[in-house]
Amino acid sequence: MDSMNETGPGPVSVLDAIRARRSVREFLDKPVPRGSLERMLDAARWAPNHRLTFPWRFFLLEKGGEMRARVASLSREWTFENNAQLPEPKRTQTADAARHELLKAPAFIYAYSVPGANEEVTRENYAAVCISCQNMQLVAVAEGLSMGWSTGRPTRHQDLGKTLGADPSWQLVGAFFIGYPAVQPKAQRAEITGHVSWL
Ligand SMILES: Cc1cc2nc3c(=O)[nH]c(=O)nc-3n(C[C@H](O)[C@H](O)[C@H](O)COP(=O)(O)O)c2cc1C
Repeated sequence: MDSMNETGPGPVSVLDAIRARRSVREFLDKPVPRGSLERMLDAARWAPNHRLTFPWRFFLLEKGGEMRARVASLSREWTFENNAQLPEPKRTQTADAARHELLKAPAFIYAYSVPGANEEVTRENYAAVCISCQNMQLVAVAEGLSMGWSTGRPTRHQDLGKTLGADPSWQLVGAFFIGYPAVQPKAQRAEITGHVSWL
């Protein structure tokens, strides 16, 4: 598989991609080709989507760009404010690390879900956006990339949405670190048998 090929990667079985996908936050210092990101986003729109509401809103933050620097500072600020229990210099180091992780990610995406006309549609929309994110993650595997889904520090600052230009009504689904993996984490899953009833 040649992930740098502009026409995209060769075929990967769905099951192989599902099993090979791991959450990764440590990446090689190697840029993510724009073509890979475009193919991931194209896969996102093919998520099942009741009523075809197209509820996903993605923000791609260029490495080295002004917006990346702004949200990295927000992540640092939130982390500092919410780790008052840590002694110095640990508190400052933890906050700096949150900023640095965001700055150094080869590619970085925020995913939001728009609300529907009622609670039911809002819930359906959120589900569709989650699936669109998983579509992106599976295509990332096919591209030789890995992603790390976060609902933690990079997502917590109250000014994040306003800074990005997200509507206040949108629900944040996650922040995604993306790049060529520098590590291959081990996977753990319980057997499905204990969680299924064949009736
Ligand atoms: C909705 C959602 C939110 C997540 N948020 C975080 C997070 O904030 N920090 C983190 O380290 N991992 C986060 N993860 C990744 C999970 O921890 C990860 O999927 C789990 O450990 C299983 O590992 P695997 O994805 O490599 O199979 C999140 C995953 C999902 C689906």
